[in-house]
Amino acid sequence: MSVFFDIPPLIRASGEVRLPGSKSISNRTLLLAAIAEGATEVHDLLDADDTRIMLAALARLGVSVTQLGGHSWRIEGCGGAFPVKEAELFLGNAGTAFRPLTAVLALSGGRYRLRGVARMHERPIGDLVEGLRQLGCDIRYLEREGYPPLEIRPASLQVATPIRLRGDVSSQFLTALLMALPLLSESAQIELATELISKPYVEITLKLMARFGVTVERDDWRRFLLPAGQRYRSPGLIHVEGDASSASYFLAAGALGGGPVRVVGVGSHSIQGDVAFAKILADLGAQIEWEEHAIVARAPATGKLRAFDLDLNAIPDAAMTLAILALFADGPSVLRNIASWRVKETDRIAAMAKELAKIGAKVEEGADWLAVSPPTTFVSHAAIATYDDHRMAMCFALVAFAGVPIRILDPACVGKTFPGFFDALARIAAPVIALDGPSASGKGTVAARLARALGFHLLDSGALYRLVALAALEAGVSLEDEAGLAALAAALPARFDGERVFLAEKEVSVEIRREEIGRAASQIAAYPKVREALLERQRDFRRFPGLVADGRDMGSVVFPDAAVKVFLTASPRARAERRYNQLIEKGIPANMLPPLTVLAQELAERDRRDAERQVAPLKRCEDAELLDTTELGIEEAVAAAMAIVQRRLPFINPPPVA
Ligand code: DC
Repeated sequence: MSVFFDIPPLIRASGEVRLPGSKSISNRTLLLAAIAEGATEVHDLLDADDTRIMLAALARLGVSVTQLGGHSWRIEGCGGAFPVKEAELFLGNAGTAFRPLTAVLALSGGRYRLRGVARMHERPIGDLVEGLRQLGCDIRYLEREGYPPLEIRPASLQVATPIRLRGDVSSQFLTALLMALPLLSESAQIELATELISKPYVEITLKLMARFGVTVERDDWRRFLLPAGQRYRSPGLIHVEGDASSASYFLAAGALGGGPVRVVGVGSHSIQGDVAFAKILADLGAQIEWEEHAIVARAPATGKLRAFDLDLNAIPDAAMTLAILALFADGPSVLRNIASWRVKETDRIAAMAKELAKIGAKVEEGADWLAVSPPTTFVSHAAIATYDDHRMAMCFALVAFAGVPIRILDPACVGKTFPGFFDALARIAAPVIALDGPSASGKGTVAARLARALGFHLLDSGALYRLVALAALEAGVSLEDEAGLAALAAALPARFDGERVFLAEKEVSVEIRREEIGRAASQIAAYPKVREALLERQRDFRRFPGLVADGRDMGSVVFPDAAVKVFLTASPRARAERRYNQLIEKGIPANMLPPLTVLAQELAERDRRDAERQVAPLKRCEDAELLDTTELGIEEAVAAAMAIVQRRLPFINPPPVA
């Protein structure tokens, strides 16, 4: 990815998002599986920087980790401390790896060095080290007192008195100690010396420890007791929930862009505290529906979100998304009790204040709070610095819903927890221009020209149906065999490069334009299973900065929320003449050409089949503008379509011609 990513002004968001796995659950599960007895299959594991760091560290420590395919892994538990007794680990900026590994390694009787990136070395770890030293652990600071990098050496341990631990800087210190203590198999007690922040994250820890057979008795949030003789035992199989913090961006998009946006992977059954974000969103006026494993968000019935003044200590990560939503609220908002922001991937209070000001918002910050007043006018084209912080990049992308383009600097930082973030956002929010109409109405040419002029992506959906037809002819699959054709469609090795079309590695741009292929395409396009098999593949074309989609059901079925819908048509005679001229252009000699009347008949036959079929028939949607091209040349048709686009998407300017 390049040094910046531009997001165009966004007006609508709707559709479905499948969340990547939760970072918190993924890394806790990996570590518990590694020190448990027995093997664990982990499904839907997050595939991102922070989990790769954990997997690599475990492998380095002698744990057998095997990818079973996709997002599934098998971890062979060591049934206690790691077999490798001497290692140097590099843990990037992954707090969910650094803190728990520090605790587990400190109780492992080996010699280890733990390092991270420069920012990791600025994030405090002293409270955890203090806690571990009370057990006799030998941990030394290699650079600055209280911060990584660290060296751990073997030591004789004793669990005599309650361990006193601070919980007001990061809840991960408590999480780390809790996860490590069962290695000692003696009873142990932790007493918090301060208030505990981010409690829901500790709740995740306790729930996952219980899945691995270890129970912790908890007295309020002050005292934690681990009864003696407990060992981690693999539950065999763990499914990782979707990441609730990542859900916040899409739920917010649903609230800002109309919705409905259905976010799949978290729901009423979630064990992650950050789902509370959806409850807050509902309090602000958004319409929220809960399912067991999904949440659906729509805009407030009143159109506007309410301003808020909230203690957000329990959901520090999702709270960043609220700071952005404050820009869209009906008054000034305050985010309170968020001191932990200062020791995260960056000083998030300072970073947020500085970047929000670039948008035109009035911002004030305190040691542990942030006040945000919506801008009177949003600054267009603001370039947002992201401070190597994935959440800065993801939440600022939402500013585009104010109708202004925004530039996200160093966009690849989203890879920490959500490598496909911008594509996922585009899939529900990138502007779509849907051009539907019968064969030879001019939509293919108009679509390609519009896409080029706007710098948008192009979907020639007819080409997909033609490719299935061609693949069927080549593979000898009968055009009557709906299931066989659907299977071909599902696994179609299609590739598009601008207007060039490939099947596997072979270019077939010209071949798929043959009349017999068009006829076969029209026939197989009537099968519901074939259409179903191509549906998501067509939606994958929706990417930033936008998409021009050409077909028969672009506005009605594939992109019902398209920002612009145009139905192109032309008189049968005009269309037959165009087809005739196309054939001449292809170099077919005049004496081989079918007469105009035959071409007209064939087109009429195709229209009839496309319009009369049961699923997604060719028809003009109510909200599509009619563009009759009978009397128009190509330039005029393109200009007429562009005029419609500019009326519906006034802020989209074609990029200047170089
Ligand atoms: O646009 P085209 O001539 O390349 O399309 C070929 C056939 O594919 C057409 O007869 C109908 C079918 N088709 C469809 O059913 N739905 C689409 N979105 C695009 C094409």
